[in-house]
Amino acid sequence: MTKPPGKLLPLVAALLCGAVLAQAATPSDHSVTSAAAPVTQTPSHGLQPGTSKRGEPSSTKQAAQPSQPAVKPAVAKPPADDWNLAAHGKVLYLTFDDGPQREWTPKVLQVLRKHKAQATFFVLGIQVAQYPELLAAERAAGHHVGNHTWDHKTLTLLPDAKVRQEIATGVKSKCLRPPTGATNAKIAAIAAAYRQRQVLWDVDTKDWEKPGAAHIEHAILAGARPGAIILMHDGGGNRSQTVAALDRALTKLTKLGYTYRALPC
Ligand code: NI
Repeated sequence: MTKPPGKLLPLVAALLCGAVLAQAATPSDHSVTSAAAPVTQTPSHGLQPGTSKRGEPSSTKQAAQPSQPAVKPAVAKPPADDWNLAAHGKVLYLTFDDGPQREWTPKVLQVLRKHKAQATFFVLGIQVAQYPELLAAERAAGHHVGNHTWDHKTLTLLPDAKVRQEIATGVKSKCLRPPTGATNAKIAAIAAAYRQRQVLWDVDTKDWEKPGAAHIEHAILAGARPGAIILMHDGGGNRSQTVAALDRALTKLTKLGYTYRALPC
């Protein structure tokens, strides 16, 4: 959305619209679950009392409301529990890195759809710039999106300013998966400054080594346990083995009672 050109009449309308949009922005950012919603709501609430351009009655109302602080306690608690991944029974968290990619991302999406599975895609900014429609397709299908930086540099080898740049130019998300999993306390702190939680994995299928579909399938099955985060790739090379392995593994795991959710990113 762009703002209308600055003239006086539209300005008032724009201000009103802006207020509505500010409210709407939070829920429409699909990855924002109960976790972040409260955080953003608090400041937007503060806009109302500021300068009442049109609300004649509101000024009188506000004068009569000295006991506003009561609002605070309602917020602030829920986020942490979302990450208690093992607490949801036989749920697996499938993750796909290095996409979106023109050929393989749609195939991964197709397999996920077939098995009614939700997943998380840790995307590269440079890939998203090339295939924004695939990112949109991931989100439209209910999957979540995490930041895998702009172009997959090893963050631990970069000066701070460059680390910030890599993170800031990646996709907007509440999660960061540092490329190759290379991280340290400094990277974690920088990520936290961007309100991004580092998310690694429990099961590395090593699908990027192309060890054969059977090998990848076995890695998924062997690693499956409640709450496990499973690492696969939809970008960075030919992913036909990943797609085949995913299909077979999900068929078996579903029979075992597993379901598949997106991470709270
Ligand atoms: Ni990667």
